[in-house]
Amino acid sequence: MSVPLYSPSEEHEMLREAVRALADEKVAPRAAFADENEEFPADVYKDLVAADFHAVHIPEEYGGAGADALATVIVIEEIARACASSSLIPAVNKLGTVPLLLSGSEELKAQYLTPVARGDGMFSYALSEAEAGSDAAAMKTRAVADGDDYILNGTKSWITNAGISEYYTVMAVTDPSAGPRGISAFVVEKSDEGVSFGPKEKKLGIKGSPTRQVILENVRIPASRMIGAPGTGFKTALATLDHTRITIAAQALGIAQGALDYAIGYVKQRKQFGRPIADFQGLQFMIADMAMKLEAARQLTYAAATKSELAMHGTPVKDLTFFSSAAKCAASDAAMDITTDAVQLLGGYGYTRDYPVERMMRDAKITQIYEGTNQIQRMVMARQLLK
Ligand code: CAA
Repeated sequence: MSVPLYSPSEEHEMLREAVRALADEKVAPRAAFADENEEFPADVYKDLVAADFHAVHIPEEYGGAGADALATVIVIEEIARACASSSLIPAVNKLGTVPLLLSGSEELKAQYLTPVARGDGMFSYALSEAEAGSDAAAMKTRAVADGDDYILNGTKSWITNAGISEYYTVMAVTDPSAGPRGISAFVVEKSDEGVSFGPKEKKLGIKGSPTRQVILENVRIPASRMIGAPGTGFKTALATLDHTRITIAAQALGIAQGALDYAIGYVKQRKQFGRPIADFQGLQFMIADMAMKLEAARQLTYAAATKSELAMHGTPVKDLTFFSSAAKCAASDAAMDITTDAVQLLGGYGYTRDYPVERMMRDAKITQIYEGTNQIQRMVMARQLLK
């Protein structure tokens, strides 16, 4: 019998066990603090670096762990099961660096992937602007050539891990007359003169991960920091999302699994009417539905990850865009439903911050919004189906 392409191998399952052990011991105990205090979990970052789980997708030739896309999904899933904010460490490191992996010169890759793999700096992705969210191509940030340099001006909005990351992939307009084909991608460093950050957004969830504007005022960078050729930045940005929407799906799966596991433990010990509430069929059906939705989304995400891996290594995968959007959409919608039901299963306790499920419900919401709203995902899927 042929084994399905996306079936996790024994190594994948061993990796899952290792990440889960670390997440249970070091990540979960700090999750509530990071949420309550809106503080980046710097200790978690150190522990993830020590275990080499902070940017697992970086190829070995740049000093990384060289994990395949499915292994990367498993790492993000297991960290998110404990703490969604912490799972943005490997997820955003991947998002920031995929543009380089897809389109960067060998010099640029060696220069910037190596420090990320070492844990010396994280890498964020700066596409959105205040008036260019879903309509990303409407961006106004400009990059103007000046001798061997480019000078960047503009403000990027809602940038995950901004201020903490050392490096940023910034999409900017180099030819205003060319629409999406006039956008180019650059590496900007936090320490470049003229880079600053807006105040931290006051958010519903993922509070341990700062979301800030990246403000660029006459930032002069060498032209060698352009990723790919002039005018290819928008394509690189969208091609990146084809790979990284799958990691948001992974985050959603992890959040949902954390909520389901907690709720199952709770209903087995909580007694009402003289018996564990797990004995009641109304609740059993809820748990069955939660697990069913989660597993369906997981299988789709793993299939998408396998396609991502093939595409990264040059195999043409015609339906990667569909699978990536479908996985992100299905997993995030499932996570929202599952975490909401987990709060319901815990009743009044679930609604308090004494239990982790309300945090998980708040954290799940962002997965339906970022890396493209689920309305955009449906549009992307429909476009691919109808073309
Ligand atoms: N890969 C490569 N190229 C692609 C592509 C893909 N998946 N999809 C489209 N393109 C190309 C097109 O072929 C076209 O190029 P040509 O003109 O050379 O043919 C070009 O890109 C423009 O494409 P469209 O005309 O389809 O562009 P559009 O403006 O109509 O729509 C969109 C594009 C799908 C709506 C896109 O803007 C989009 O995905 N919007 C959502 C934005 C988004 O996801 N933002 C996420 C921010 S990151 C984030 O949230 C991270 C975080 O915090 C953790």
